[in-house]
This record gives sequence, C-alpha cells and structure tokens, in this order.
Amino acid sequence: MVSTDTIKRQKIFQELRRLQQRDFCFSSGHILGSMCTVPHPLAREAYVQFLETNLGDPELCPGTKEIESRYIAFISNLLHAPKTSAGQIVSGGTEGNITAMWIAKQLSGKKEIVLPKSAHFSFQKIASLMDMKLVEIPVTNEYTMDVQLLKKKIRRTTAVVVGLAGSTELGTIDPISELSDVCAEEHIFFHVDAAFGGFVIPFLKELAYKVPDFDFRLRGVCSISIDSHKMGYAAIPLGTLVVRKKQWLGSISVDSPYISSEKQAGMLGTRSGAPVAAAYAVAQYLGYEGYTQMVASCMDVTRYTEKRIEELGLRLVMKPTMNVLGVKLKKPGLVVKKLSENGWRVNKVERLSCIRLVLMPQITKQIIDEFIPVLQKACQEVGEL
Ligand SMILES: Cc1ncc(COP(=O)(O)O)c(C=O)c1O
Repeated sequence: MVSTDTIKRQKIFQELRRLQQRDFCFSSGHILGSMCTVPHPLAREAYVQFLETNLGDPELCPGTKEIESRYIAFISNLLHAPKTSAGQIVSGGTEGNITAMWIAKQLSGKKEIVLPKSAHFSFQKIASLMDMKLVEIPVTNEYTMDVQLLKKKIRRTTAVVVGLAGSTELGTIDPISELSDVCAEEHIFFHVDAAFGGFVIPFLKELAYKVPDFDFRLRGVCSISIDSHKMGYAAIPLGTLVVRKKQWLGSISVDSPYISSEKQAGMLGTRSGAPVAAAYAVAQYLGYEGYTQMVASCMDVTRYTEKRIEELGLRLVMKPTMNVLGVKLKKPGLVVKKLSENGWRVNKVERLSCIRLVLMPQITKQIIDEFIPVLQKACQEVGEL
C-alpha cells in the first residue's frame, strides 16, 4: 500500500512539474536572448552536494570557505589581479555593480557615477538605492563610450567611472585602456563591468582575436565584476567582484557579532556555498583550455548565425565583437512577439531598434538552422522582409 506521505510527495512534485513545463528551458535551445545557459553537468552535481552550506557564517564550513578562496584565486588569475587584490563572491552582475559602487562611494565620499549610455539597468537601481547620480555618456558609432565626451563630464564630484567589457545590448567593449589612463590621472575609481565579457575576452585573446585589454594589467582599473552564471558555464546565482586593494573591502565591512567571523563585507548575510562549489567544479574541469574551446565554438556559431541572418536580407547593427548579435529591425517588439508565439525567446532592444541574439554554449548550428526559417516567417508576417 502506498503511504499517505508518498501520495503527498507525489502530488507536490506533479504540481511542480506541471508548472515547470510552462517554462522555456535552456536545454531546448529555444532561448536565444539570454546571457545565462544550461549549467555544466558538473555544476549541477556539485550544487546539490553543497546545498546546506552557508558562506555567510564561514567558520561553520571551512571546507566550503576554502573552495571559495580557490575559486576567487582562479578568477583573480584570469583577470591578472595583483597580489594586493581581493575578491568578493556576489550573486551576479547586479550585486557586483552595486558592491563596486558602494566601495567607490565609501572611498571617495562622492556620489556621481559616470557611465556609458549602454550600461546595464542595474545602475538605475544603484542610483536609487545609494542616492547616487548617474551621468550618462553617449556612445560612438562603434557603440562604445565616447572618451572625449567622458573627459568633459569628469568633475570634482565624480565618485567613479564605469566601463563595459561586454555590453548587455551588443557585447561591445569600451576603450578600457584609455579610460584607465584618464581615471588613473584624475585619481578616480574605475570599475569595469565584465559580467558577460569577463569569461569571453581572455579566451578570445587566446584565440588571437583582436580584442582590447580590459583587466588589472591596466593601471587605472580598480575593480572588475565578472559572472560565472553567464559565460562561466556555472549555475545561477554566481559572480565575483575583484578589487585591486584588499583593504577596500574594509570600507563595506561591518562587525558581525553573532557569527563566528568578526567582520562581514558586502551586501548579503546568509548565502549558499552551492553555486560557488558548482562554479569551482566547472573551472577545475574545463580549465583555461576548456573555456577557450567553448568560446571558440560560440564564436563559430556566431559567425554562422551572422551569415544566415544576412542571407535572409536582414542587417546586423554592427559586426559582433563577441557572441552577441544585434539584428536591425523596424519593429523589433512585433518580431519578438511572433517568435515567442512560435516557441523561441529572443530579446528586443528598442533603443537600438534591434533584437539581440546571444550565442551561448548550448546553441548549435543545427539550432540556428531551425531558428532561421521561423525568424524569416516572423519577419515576413510583420513586414520586415
Ligand atoms: C554587462 C552586464 N552587467 C550586469 C548585468 C546584471 O547581471 P545579473 O542579471 O546577473 O545581476 C548584466 C546582465 O545581463 C550585464 O549584461
């Protein structure tokens, strides 16, 4: 006889599955507009194994804390961070940016954030949360921050300058080297938002792509935010903020009297070690070589997609810098709606009158071959073609 408890469990899981079936899933390949991906199988396994850990109280789990330190060391090496640096695990790009702006505000005592118009919307939250002011700099024809205009906007009240290494909309890289020099000379905190590009640019360089420098080898770079749950092939939620000087974390630390460590830096208290263990497992498994191959494959699919889209008679916003493509459209919203009705998820960027495709590791050429006729039909139906 089946016990009442078993029946209860079965019912709950039936309900969960029924609701889950409404979700789009990355493994179907039909999500083409997100910067997240199917976690690597090792990430999945490690995640479950570390489910009960709490890195907010690190003395309770010294082993998981060690994994965190090793993962931060891996990321710091990837970004060529100096010995003086430190890393802070965060939930993703939003928290990475919030934490960096918090540090910049504390260190400078100022409230102005100078950033490109293309910056992620998390900065809008930051302005509201921390009573900071956003000074937006227009972008050039290449969709990167205009350095000459930036120079004019730097003032005594500037707390921080933000540069993008992989913009959300098009994957563009701001002139980080020039920005770094400007900020170093003006003694201004310079944060690089590499939430997406942090796990792409180092490997593009390895593959001999001509991409600009963006990391701590540039003297003016003070902090970099990089997400493992995007191109790091790990599980949500995980990112790392690396700061050039360890003592800067002191500016966002408080006494933590009820737990075993004396001080706690950053926004969160209780936080899971599961995504950290998952990301560490993936990094150990793939290593630099594995990530390089992954990026090479994403770029191969990107080139293929680019070609197939142009063959349809559609135009790209620009030649892609990394595995992000903007497809110029008159009515991107209508095309997105049609695609969604046909089971495909892409994102629209109204500001640039385009749709954005992100060629993440799970997207293959076969998937693109399935997608192209659907895109063509959608475009024909709304009069784009
Ligand atoms: C450049 C950039 N920064 C920050 C974020 C925010 O990241 P998250 O959604 O993980 O908080 C994103 C998200 O796409 C991004 O592309």
